Amino acid sequence: MMKSLVKIIAVAGIMVAASCKTDTAPNYQFFPNMYQSVGYETYSESDAFNNGVEAQTPVDGTIKRGWMPFEVENTEAGRLFAKDSLVSPLQPTEANLANGKELFGVYCAVCHGAKGKGDGNLVKREKFLGVPSYADRDITTGSIYHTVYYGLNSMGSHAGQLNENERWQVSMYVSKLKADLTK
Ligand code: HEC
Repeated sequence: MMKSLVKIIAVAGIMVAASCKTDTAPNYQFFPNMYQSVGYETYSESDAFNNGVEAQTPVDGTIKRGWMPFEVENTEAGRLFAKDSLVSPLQPTEANLANGKELFGVYCAVCHGAKGKGDGNLVKREKFLGVPSYADRDITTGSIYHTVYYGLNSMGSHAGQLNENERWQVSMYVSKLKADLTK
């Protein structure tokens, strides 16, 4: 008797509570500003920062995770310095050269040709001219790295497409292509 009375009261309580629910008005919200956060636009104006906009440049002296700054300058002197002094931190293992070959096929062969003779498809179709054969250039893995990083004259920089390891892998592979061409 007592038990069923408790049940009836409990069910009635739930029904009363449920009857307050309406679908047209928001229900009670804990921490409403977690549900309705303010949507800031990336480049909108903002008083929160000194320069008056949301978008901020990185703090001085900090670098992106996984990004190592390249200290050698983008000048002819820098390229010559790289040529004589920079060496790959990676070993010329089969895995590194295989990856370098794959990257070369993706990023370089359209101009330089699969073997580095300067006869890629863009050259054959006369879309891009002045691409040399690696055989005719006085290059080392270090100078190739400099060229990949900064580009050289009409050749653009590839620092945005390839990370540090990949740049070295592709540079080592180009050295190998040059060695094969000049055998
Ligand atoms: C859009 C065409 C193009 C692409 C893509 C390209 N290059 Fe070049 N590359 C050139 C041209 C043109 C030159 C000649 C630049 C000069 O000496 O004025 C050159 C020159 C070079 C040289 C010779 C530099 C020297 O010191 O003489 C190297 C090494 C080289 N490229 C490597 C690469 C590598 C590695 C890639 C891919 C990551 C690549 N290039 C992608 C067009 C290209």
